[in-house]
Amino acid sequence: MRYAVVIPAAGQGKRMGANENKLMLQLQGKPIIVWTVEAFARDTWCDAIILAIRPEEEPWFRSMLNHIPTPITYVTGGKERQESVRAGLHAVTRDGVVLIHDGARPFIRVEQLRQVAQAGQTGGAILAVPVKDTVKQVDAGQITRTVPRETLWLAQTPQAFPIERIRRIHDEAAAQTFTGTDDASLFEWAGHEVAVIPGDYHNIKITTPEDLLFGEAILTKEDYR
Ligand code: CTP
Ligand code: MG
Repeated sequence: MRYAVVIPAAGQGKRMGANENKLMLQLQGKPIIVWTVEAFARDTWCDAIILAIRPEEEPWFRSMLNHIPTPITYVTGGKERQESVRAGLHAVTRDGVVLIHDGARPFIRVEQLRQVAQAGQTGGAILAVPVKDTVKQVDAGQITRTVPRETLWLAQTPQAFPIERIRRIHDEAAAQTFTGTDDASLFEWAGHEVAVIPGDYHNIKITTPEDLLFGEAILTKEDYR
């Protein structure tokens, strides 16, 4: 099978506190976004990569990714992740499945890409991992509830969907100013089912400074080249 991937990469990395887009930061000497895009370039099922970026950063992205053989289309991202994804979805020219994957998740494996892509042919599908910690609901410094952990999963990306359906739902959400924290939540909002595929705890999102340490540690043990 074949799929296209939309990679939102137009964030500012505020929680990272660096003075640049965090995707430009390096792990083992290679920018985070390069690790991420190389993962898709290794998958022969992936025939189109759409990167949502900030226009002023386009020259940097192009120069860092000019060795990637898979065709890359650059689109202008928006103020929020959801807007960036929507812009990317409108640049997809093929039918079938689209994967949506955070530029900030560099540790993804081809087997996982294929599992979620296959599941996304018929409906929504995401990678997720079970919550390890006990989760408390808290109000004004007091526990109001202990949430049963057995039912809790942490959503990751990639998330996969039939392209025309997720594009239409993104357009509807924009028209009604509905915001979801991920693309699956938009799919759910529209009344569609989303399958969960057990993922991998290595597939972290690089968000805060300590995640760079975790990322370096992962790369000393695991081979993502
Ligand atoms: N993203 C995007 N457009 C935005 C915001 C985010 O394309 N307006 C992308 C980021 O570049 C990242 C992914 O969405 O690859 C996940 O977002 P997040 O981890 O929140 O990154 P940032 O928004 O850059 O970080 P922060 O929220 O700390 O500012
Ligand atoms: Mg953000």
